[in-house]
Amino acid sequence: MRISVIGCGYLGAVHAACMAKLGHEVVGIDVDDLKIADLSNATAPFYEPGLEALLRDVQDTGRLSFTTDMAAAAGSDVHFICVGTPQKKGENGADMTYVDAALHTLLPYLAPGNIVVGKSTVPVGTAARLAQLVESREPSAHLVWNPEFLREGHALADTLNPDRLVYGVSDGLEDHPAVAVLDDVYAGSLASGTPRLVTDHPTAELVKTAANSFLATKISFINAMAEVCEAAGADVTRLADAIGLDDRIGRKFLHAGIGFGGGCLPKDIRAFMARAGELGADQALTFLREVDAINMRRRTRVVELTRELCGGMLLGKRITVLGAAFKPESDDVRDSPALSIAAQLQLQGAVVTVTDPKALANAARRFPELQYVPDLDAAIANADALLLLTEWQQYRAIDPYEIGAQVSSLRILDGRNVLDAAKWRAAGWTYRGLGRP
Ligand code: UDX
Repeated sequence: MRISVIGCGYLGAVHAACMAKLGHEVVGIDVDDLKIADLSNATAPFYEPGLEALLRDVQDTGRLSFTTDMAAAAGSDVHFICVGTPQKKGENGADMTYVDAALHTLLPYLAPGNIVVGKSTVPVGTAARLAQLVESREPSAHLVWNPEFLREGHALADTLNPDRLVYGVSDGLEDHPAVAVLDDVYAGSLASGTPRLVTDHPTAELVKTAANSFLATKISFINAMAEVCEAAGADVTRLADAIGLDDRIGRKFLHAGIGFGGGCLPKDIRAFMARAGELGADQALTFLREVDAINMRRRTRVVELTRELCGGMLLGKRITVLGAAFKPESDDVRDSPALSIAAQLQLQGAVVTVTDPKALANAARRFPELQYVPDLDAAIANADALLLLTEWQQYRAIDPYEIGAQVSSLRILDGRNVLDAAKWRAAGWTYRGLGRP
């Protein structure tokens, strides 16, 4: 099939490459010249494992191209909208400027029978509004809402073999003409057994926000337990192991630590609350305010713990932060808890050095006041305390015996509870985890 993908960020670039991998002829369209120049040279504008190799593979087949010209969407049967919906400045709601602009620019190029597929995370009600615009321009075209559930760092696998496919169509019925078209698009994934659900527009939009709210709630739940464990002298990691063995609960997403960040969970729960308020259902989601508050409290808690670890004073203390990205295997620093903690420590007088295998350039753009050192040994030299804030494999693998001589004081705060506390203590370190004795 001929497919256009509008918006080539984390979602769109991966989606375009994966659609080409599935055998389709794909054009990726974005307003950003630099991004398009990179992608056209099979260079990923951000770090995502496997993406550059995939871009090279599919570009060699001639099935994938990139452009800034929306006219290239003409002739495609299916148009995916993959632009961002960031949080509005100073408000909780989602900024719909990019989605609206993408659709308006696309409208003149729609042909009879075309399918416009929204993948961006949007406030419920958006699809119905956009469907009217599509149908008023081209009565035989259809708009489908097909939310994306990919995780950064696993984006290729999540796109090629998703847990589920959700198609939101205007009447919510299996025999809607767009269903068969999307089944062709995803034939490869469906053949390998991916479950597929057809819903109406608002249900499909809500599937995404509900899923992310549930995940955020699960993380904040275990972080709330960490607060109680800290007060009671209990160990939240063993608590999570034990409750996670109940398969109604499950161990995944029960990692207590410095909390969630990134371009999705924080802004999605806020946009969801804002939208529920507009719909008169705000009471239903007041718990998400608490989920957000628990999450943000972790960051202040880490600053306080670091102060304790450093003997009650941060002023002039050399702190090395291991990890800047919001999670490992990503260079994304949007709402990164690690960086937010680093910046707070610096504000309180500590001398902060940040290291990360991939995210330093993005981090330096966002927090130019921090010191960034790419080399791990150089970054930890003479540190008064180490803070492991993003659990990259190379930090998990650090040998406490080997690095002991490089630092100034043997103090480590494990913000992700991934280190072997007994081993670090045995090597002479003062070890602090979160929610652990
Ligand atoms: C999330 C959803 O998982 C994905 O389905 C959706 O499409 C987009 O948003 P992503 O933002 O890539 O994906 O990251 P995710 O793996 O969900 O992690 C989010 C944050 O939660 C990270 O900062 C991570 O470190 C943190 N986290 C995750 C925890 O603190 N504890 C956990 O147990 C799990």
